[in-house]
Amino acid sequence: MKKIWIGSSWKMNKTSSEVTTFCDAITPILEQVPGTIQTFLIPPFPYVREVAEAVDRYGTCVGVQNICWAAQGAFTGEISAGMAKDIGALIVEIGHSERRQMFNETDETVNRKVRAALGTGLKPLVCVGDTAEEKRWGVSAEAIVRQVKIALFGLSKDELHNVIIAYEPVWAIGEQGVPASPYEAENGLYTIRQALIDMFGEDKAQQIILLYGGSVHQDNAAELIAQPSIDGLFVGRAAWDAEGYAELLSIVGCYCE
Ligand code: 13P
Repeated sequence: MKKIWIGSSWKMNKTSSEVTTFCDAITPILEQVPGTIQTFLIPPFPYVREVAEAVDRYGTCVGVQNICWAAQGAFTGEISAGMAKDIGALIVEIGHSERRQMFNETDETVNRKVRAALGTGLKPLVCVGDTAEEKRWGVSAEAIVRQVKIALFGLSKDELHNVIIAYEPVWAIGEQGVPASPYEAENGLYTIRQALIDMFGEDKAQQIILLYGGSVHQDNAAELIAQPSIDGLFVGRAAWDAEGYAELLSIVGCYCE
């Protein structure tokens, strides 16, 4: 049976002392998380090693928020998949809408980064999502299927068990975001699963973990996780402090039982 994944990207937040406070508070909680739940944390690069050292022993996967597609070379300011792995990362987030919108991430660079991650033994967590305009124009399904198909283009079937996809509608993310209803979240992830079945066949498509992200909070987590196509939740603001994350884990833990 698949585990329920629940984790958080901290985006560009937290000071060093806030990271230590978070780790001190969350480790006793992680120790009690049931084996049916897979926890993950994606801090900014400078804190990855510290967080990994604090939470590895509890089975929590730590990730980075970006990598370069190249293994090394003249790419000033970039960090390779190998470097991310060296500092303790197991996951790499690729193609978050903030990177697509503000840092010129394209479907093609997402695909190159997915291949770099898999080639280095990291799990790519690929974010896809429709914009508010695409939703208004009625082309949400087309937009997310295109992003998924290009992100996973050229992958072998043997690599798929390491792939995670998050449906994060751009209109649902952050302070201005309007949370997707459980129906909208389910619809997006069902659409993604069907696209994966078209690409790789039923068995392989079912191995890919599908997460929902975008204004997940303590009041909507239970309804979202109960949707049949949702394997887990990718949380921002509501899990940035240890209490919030602990509460979400307990809500999802209750659902497991
Ligand atoms: P929020 O939960 O703060 O809307 O952020 C979601 C997100 O972008 C996770 O990657």
